[in-house]
Amino acid sequence: MTPAPVRLTVVVASVRPERFGPVVAEWFSRTVAERSDFEASTLDLIDLDLPIDLSPSQGAEALVSAIGAAQAVVAVTPEYNHGYPASLKVALDTVKYEWRGKPIGFVSYGGISGGMRATEQLRQVAAELHMVSVRDSVAFPRARRAFDEQGCTSNEAAADSATRMLDQLHWWATASTMAASVRPYPGQ
Ligand SMILES: Cc1cc2nc3c(=O)[nH]c(=O)nc-3n(C[C@H](O)[C@H](O)[C@H](O)COP(=O)(O)O)c2cc1C
Repeated sequence: MTPAPVRLTVVVASVRPERFGPVVAEWFSRTVAERSDFEASTLDLIDLDLPIDLSPSQGAEALVSAIGAAQAVVAVTPEYNHGYPASLKVALDTVKYEWRGKPIGFVSYGGISGGMRATEQLRQVAAELHMVSVRDSVAFPRARRAFDEQGCTSNEAAADSATRMLDQLHWWATASTMAASVRPYPGQ
């Protein structure tokens, strides 16, 4: 029997009016769609309008529900001042239990570093949220130059990294789902 595809939520982190994030996120979603072992959906933080004071809102409910339904998460994030955007921190802080026991991967972009400093900071936060950040991540240095008008890229390293990251996310998502069916994750 073919196992059911892993439910992956792709979070688009940047919310600036002139943001580049959707180009990167759409490339990644197309990359995932080439595989039959994932069923991906996109959650764009610009649509949720999450309150910075973490008070209840429709957007917060939608976020909790989407993360609750996911078996794995990928954050598509730029680098701002050697960190990740405040919009992503608000999203991470808005959800509590639904992150737990799930794997997370990162697709970053930015200037010369490709957003890797944002990714490394996010690994610390992921650990606090009881998530497993997978080893491989995708990075796009000089992101605006890395994509053509159609949103395609010839960055082979990114495509290879995406394959490895998705393989690792799949392994952890399958393992954590099986484990949770035997014993709930501690602290749920
Ligand atoms: C406030 C701000 C700070 C930035 N800081 C960095 C940085 O520290 N390192 C870097 O590589 N790029 C930096 N950049 C460039 C962004 O990573 C790049 O413009 C990216 O496209 C931003 O993502 P967005 O367009 O989806 O918001 C910064 C951009 C902004 C707006």
